[in-house]
Amino acid sequence: MNPAEFARAIQFQGFSPVTLPSQGEPEHWEWQDTFLPEHDSGFKTLLAPLQAIPKLSTFAMAALINFAVRQMPSQQCFLNIGTWYGYSFLAGIIGNPTKICIGVDNFSNDIVSTLNLRLPPSDPEPHFRAWFDQQRSPMHAFFKLEFRDYFELFHQNMPIGVYFYDADHAYAAQYEGLALAHPCLAPGAWILVDDINEEGPYRATLDFLQDHRNQYTLAFEQKTCCNGHPSFWNGLMLLQKQC
Ligand SMILES: C[S@@+](CC[C@H](N)C(=O)[O-])C[C@H]1O[C@@H](n2cnc3c(N)ncnc32)[C@H](O)[C@@H]1O
Repeated sequence: MNPAEFARAIQFQGFSPVTLPSQGEPEHWEWQDTFLPEHDSGFKTLLAPLQAIPKLSTFAMAALINFAVRQMPSQQCFLNIGTWYGYSFLAGIIGNPTKICIGVDNFSNDIVSTLNLRLPPSDPEPHFRAWFDQQRSPMHAFFKLEFRDYFELFHQNMPIGVYFYDADHAYAAQYEGLALAHPCLAPGAWILVDDINEEGPYRATLDFLQDHRNQYTLAFEQKTCCNGHPSFWNGLMLLQKQC
């Protein structure tokens, strides 16, 4: 099973990505009412520490990241641009101590939302660093940098096997986040694109696909009926680089 097949096979009890849950407690929707196609209880136990971390994501997306990193060949790396409090990055590193995982964030964003996303008021960096230090192995690294500087100064020749750009989602930045990674992505690499309910990331990703015809396949696309949805939050796409 590859990551796109895994994403397609995730099931939700009482709701779907395009319908809202009509009953049950919000705390249950992601962890109890989401069923993974493989090792459901194993993932829930492994990833339980994530429940303490503020997030703009879901358990389904964390499990998908963990699954993709687990499958990644050992000489490749997981690169997450935009870690914030660490939810998506720690989803990749937990249980994957032998995989190379790199997080990048310049902690520039004051995340504000008109939605009731229960966003925390405090500074994410010290919280991120404490959680990262708890979970990391020597194969895991973090760079406090602007993502363009990271690619220019630090990334060098490391082939990327799993890539999640989750920083500035304005069209130009999202496109640049994909374009800068492109030469470093290994054949067969997986790219996660979230927030595709929004026009900027969606258009930028479609344009990137169009501009790199025959080099990537769109392997999974699921919009959600609202932001903050317990399935795939604000929509998710998976691209795979061709061999
Ligand atoms: C949406 S949050 C990331 C959420 C995180 N992936 C999660 O799962 O909770 C976006 C993050 O991108 C970072 N960011 C925004 N612009 C950036 C840039 N130009 N370079 C590096 N990081 C940036 C912000 O500081 C913020 O922490």
